[in-house]
Amino acid sequence: MTLTAGLASRLREILPADRVIDDPTTLIPYAYDASFWSLRSRRMPDVVVLPETTAEVSGVVRAAATSGTPVVARGGGTGQTGGAVPARGGIVISFARMRRVLEIDRTNLQCLTEPGIVYVDLNAALAPHGLFFPPDPGSGRACSVGGMVANNASGPHAVRWGTTSAYVLGAEVVLADGSVIVTGGQRSKALKSSSGIDLTKLFVGSEGTLGIITRLRLRVQPRPAARAVILAAYDDLAGTVATMDDLFAAGILPATAELLDQSAVKALMAWKPDLALPDGEAVLFIEIEGGKGEIAASAREAEKIVQRRARLTRLAEDEAAIQRLWAARAGLAAASALVFPGKHRVFAGEDLAVPISEIPRTVRRAREIAAETGITVIFYGHFGDGNVHSGILIDPSDPDEVNRADDLADRLHRLAIEVGGTVTGEHGTGAVRSRYMRAEHGDALDVMRRVKAALDPQGIMNPGKLYGDEV
Ligand code: LAC
Ligand code: ZN
Repeated sequence: MTLTAGLASRLREILPADRVIDDPTTLIPYAYDASFWSLRSRRMPDVVVLPETTAEVSGVVRAAATSGTPVVARGGGTGQTGGAVPARGGIVISFARMRRVLEIDRTNLQCLTEPGIVYVDLNAALAPHGLFFPPDPGSGRACSVGGMVANNASGPHAVRWGTTSAYVLGAEVVLADGSVIVTGGQRSKALKSSSGIDLTKLFVGSEGTLGIITRLRLRVQPRPAARAVILAAYDDLAGTVATMDDLFAAGILPATAELLDQSAVKALMAWKPDLALPDGEAVLFIEIEGGKGEIAASAREAEKIVQRRARLTRLAEDEAAIQRLWAARAGLAAASALVFPGKHRVFAGEDLAVPISEIPRTVRRAREIAAETGITVIFYGHFGDGNVHSGILIDPSDPDEVNRADDLADRLHRLAIEVGGTVTGEHGTGAVRSRYMRAEHGDALDVMRRVKAALDPQGIMNPGKLYGDEV
């Protein structure tokens, strides 16, 4: 019996045989995520399991611990850093079958859910209760909530609502030896706590390297009754920062301040000319939320402030029009290929987050680096929290172009650190950004490694990610 066959048969003692996959063809999709890293060289798991209960996950991890086999948790597989890809083979635990919402408690503003649920499905379950789970990643129609927690993901609305981390009240976690703990209080339904070390925070963003989350207690919020979007065009990127500062000075924190630079506007207009987006160095989608009775006045007040710096503004108040704008924004990555036929959008160096005040300098410098490397890039992002996405467009079959794209991505990561930012605002570290952890965190990386060694002494939990290893 081969090593893999032996492992699979051990796992079939823990789960029904049809939820243990070891046929090589069926394993192939699990060797990838959306990262350019995984597309260039696939990393096959030995076995994929599809548990339905915490006890099954625990049994699988126990078997992995006994044999020293790597274990990697996988949600929707939409990650852009290789986080759910088995860098060193082993067992992939797919959460595709652990997607039940176990409880929705409006009075206590929380829900209990399994981690495999897709982001939009959780929000569909919350909607009849007038509630929502705010962090809204671009991949919300496909990504799992567990993956969002593992990466501390977010999206446009993080400007007002914060990132996933702010909403995780507690988690059930299977540790590296297969034992199970509950963080945030075993029986707690409190919305806050200053009790003990915040272990919940330790697991959020740790990408399955310290333990595997099997259940989540999430804070949820009442959904604002109404919203409006101010679409603002600027001749100069500096004006966008001035607008944000003007809004802050007036006591207004918008729900979003979504940036499209001129290249992104061009891409969107090639795809959806009906949007009639204005020209300029940049366009912002500034969303204002509020009650039904006040939204029109709030939006106009904010629009007046925006008009001080913007060349022109347009107000979208009708929900259908607002949804059209956001749907277009969500399709931006796909739209970019229309403007540059023959090129593919690759996810590399795509998630810089910098101080808001540094965005103009960062985008200008990033444009120069793109020109120096001869690579086409579109820039967009969640301006209101400094998150700049660089959409790199290349022909992946051209090795010279790929080399130049690598150089570009490397320089973008270093640029983010140089201007006082981070190499990733919401997509995570994974395999792709592990090499920047020392430059970004200094000696704090050693403390991360000590935590890792304490919780996973054998190094079986998602090896090859996050701790400064080169993969
Ligand atoms: C977005 C993803 C790339 O904002 O984070 O579309
Ligand atoms: Zn984003």
